[in-house]
Amino acid sequence: MATRNQRATGWKETGRQKDDYYSTPRWAVEALLDREIFESPVWECASGDGAISKVLEERGYTVISSDLRQDETVYGEKGVNFLFETKKVKSIITNPPFKSGLNFVLHALECADKIAIFGRIQFLESFERYEKLFSKHSPARVYVFSGRCSCLKNGEPVNAGILCFAWFVWEKGFTGKPVLDWIVPKKKALLLVEEAKTK
Ligand SMILES: C[S@@+](CC[C@H](N)C(=O)[O-])C[C@H]1O[C@@H](n2cnc3c(N)ncnc32)[C@H](O)[C@@H]1O
Repeated sequence: MATRNQRATGWKETGRQKDDYYSTPRWAVEALLDREIFESPVWECASGDGAISKVLEERGYTVISSDLRQDETVYGEKGVNFLFETKKVKSIITNPPFKSGLNFVLHALECADKIAIFGRIQFLESFERYEKLFSKHSPARVYVFSGRCSCLKNGEPVNAGILCFAWFVWEKGFTGKPVLDWIVPKKKALLLVEEAKTK
């Protein structure tokens, strides 16, 4: 049964993709890589169809891709439950299933020096996440998408831009407070520059 939070954020028990399989749009991955540098190897530990892995590879990163599912759509190693893996890598970048986002981040912190997680802005809330994660491990940076950003299901946008997403970045040894910044889609940013010129 859906929790109150899940209902409030539009989660539906029926109609969800198996294992929360939704792809991250390319431009959202590029926006992260335009702002952050990672050390290889980078592990995309819930790789889906490779939406993040492929952009990383294009940028010259050495990428390890794996996913729990075993079907032919999976890019990388199939049937790998990240939560039971003990591999150590320099970086992890992923968009995990929302329902197990907390466990993914806690485990990723044990496996990598730098982590970037694509998730809903609501990930910042809840007592459980505050107690188990944010009060002990503050992200170094949070990049909020200033415009709504739709994930993809079979290549088509889903949730029609109703959810607000962000990139959450953790770095080993970081003890400060997180810096908050915004990601403005490139087309919108260009429009704003043009508007500013006419003022
Ligand atoms: C929201 S999709 C994102 C896919 C891909 N990371 C992307 O950004 O396009 C979440 C993915 O996590 C995978 N997944 C779910 N539970 C997992 C687990 N315990 N270990 C590894 N992968 C898992 C699902 O099969 C699905 O492909």
